[in-house]
Amino acid sequence: MGETTNPGLEGVIVAETELSDVDGEAGELIIGGYPLEELAANASYEESVFLLLEGRLPTADELEAFRADLAARRRITEEVQQVLRRAAEDGAPAMDALRMGVAAASLGDDRDEPEATSGIDPEPRDDAMRLVAVVPTIVATYWRYRRDEEPLEPRPDLSHAANYLYLLTGEEPTPADVRGLETYLNTVIEHGVNASTFTARTVVSTESDLISAITAAVGALKGPLHGGAPGPVLEMLREVHEEGDPEGYVRAKLEAGERLMGFGHRVYRVRDPRAAVLSNGAERLYAQSADADFFETVQAFESVAVDALAEHKPDRRLETNVEFYTAALLDGVGVPRELFTPTFAVSRVGGWSAHCLEQLEDNRLVRPVSRYAGETDRTWTPVGER
Ligand code: ACO
Repeated sequence: MGETTNPGLEGVIVAETELSDVDGEAGELIIGGYPLEELAANASYEESVFLLLEGRLPTADELEAFRADLAARRRITEEVQQVLRRAAEDGAPAMDALRMGVAAASLGDDRDEPEATSGIDPEPRDDAMRLVAVVPTIVATYWRYRRDEEPLEPRPDLSHAANYLYLLTGEEPTPADVRGLETYLNTVIEHGVNASTFTARTVVSTESDLISAITAAVGALKGPLHGGAPGPVLEMLREVHEEGDPEGYVRAKLEAGERLMGFGHRVYRVRDPRAAVLSNGAERLYAQSADADFFETVQAFESVAVDALAEHKPDRRLETNVEFYTAALLDGVGVPRELFTPTFAVSRVGGWSAHCLEQLEDNRLVRPVSRYAGETDRTWTPVGER
C-alpha cells in the first residue's frame, strides 16, 4: 500500500476519456475534439449531446432523427409528477426535487428491469437518451407546482432549449433567449472528471444502471463546493447595480475577509474559458434587452474585482470563473434564480450520461484503497464491563 494519501484525488488520473480536455494552466477547454468557443457558438444542445454520445457530429438526417427521438422521450409519468407535486408542496429545494424526480424515473414505465442477479442495465444508451430528455421536464414540473401552476405538456415541435423555457413559463421563448440558453447548455455540458461525473462513473462501474448513476450525480452537484453559487453571484451583482459603487463594494468585502463570489477556481489559473463564452452570449442577449445597463455594471464589476483581487492576493491569480457570467446569462434568459443549479444539471446530464457509457465500454470497478490510521491493539471487553 502507498505511503501517502491524496484525499481530494488531486492530480490523480482515474480515467482515459475522449469527451473533454481541461487545461487549467492555458485556460483551454476542448469538448469532443472542438474548442469550447467553436462548439458553444455553433452547436444546438442536441448536436452537443450527439457529439458526446457518438464521438462525432451528426449529419443533417441523423440530427433530425436524434432531435425527434429525444423530443419523443420528454414526458414524465404520472408517478414522477406525484413525487414532484409532493416535493413542491413540502417546500423541498429544487435540487432535492430533481434528485427525487430522477430517482423516480423508473416508476410507472415498462422498461425491462435489470436482471435481479447481475444488476446489469439492459439498455444504458436508451436510459442516457431518456434521462437527457426528462431532466428539463422534471425541473419545470417541480417549478410549476411550486408556483401553484399546472405543469405543461412538453412540445415536441420545439428544440430542447426552447422546450425547457416553454415548460417553465408557458410562453414560446424568443430566438434570442433560446440562443442564450443554448450557449449556456453547450458551455457546461462537459468538464472532465469533476465530482459529479466521477460519482456517476463510480456508480456504473459496479454495473448498476444509469438512473442510479445520475441520481447520485445530482446529489454530488448539489453541494456548494461543486454546483456552485451562481444564485449568490446574481444577488451580489444586483446589489452592486442598485448601489452603483463597484469599487466600494469590492473593497468592503475584501477588507471584511470575505470571498468574492464568481472568482477563483481550483483548476484554472487564468480566466475560466467558459466565462469568456458566457460573457459573449450574455452581451448579445443584453444588447437587445431593457436591462442593458445591468450588463454594463456586470462588466465594470469584473474589471474592478480582478484588479482588486490581484492587489489583495498578489501570489495567487484570481480570475473570473464560470459562475460569474452564468448568473448574468441565466437571469437574462428568464431562468429563475432558484433554478440556476438545476439548469446546470439540465445541461450536464449529457456529459454524465456520456461518461457512464464510456465507463461501461471498458469497465473496471472503481475501488481505491484507504490507509488505516486507527487503533490496532484493542482486546474485546464484554458489554457489562465497559
Ligand atoms: N475572493 C477572495 N479571495 C479568494 C477568492 C475569492 N473569490 N478565492 C480564493 N481566495 C483566496 C483565499 O482566501 C485564499 O487566501 P489565503 O491563502 O489567505 O487563505 C487563497 O485565495 C487561495 O484560496 P483557496 O481556497 O486555496 O482556493 P481553492 O482553489 O481551494 O478555491 C474556489 C477555489 C473554491 C472556487 C475559491 O476561489 C472560492 O471560494 N471562490 C468564490 C466562490 C465561487 O466563485 N465558487 C464557484 C466556483 S466555480 C465552480 O465550482 C463550478
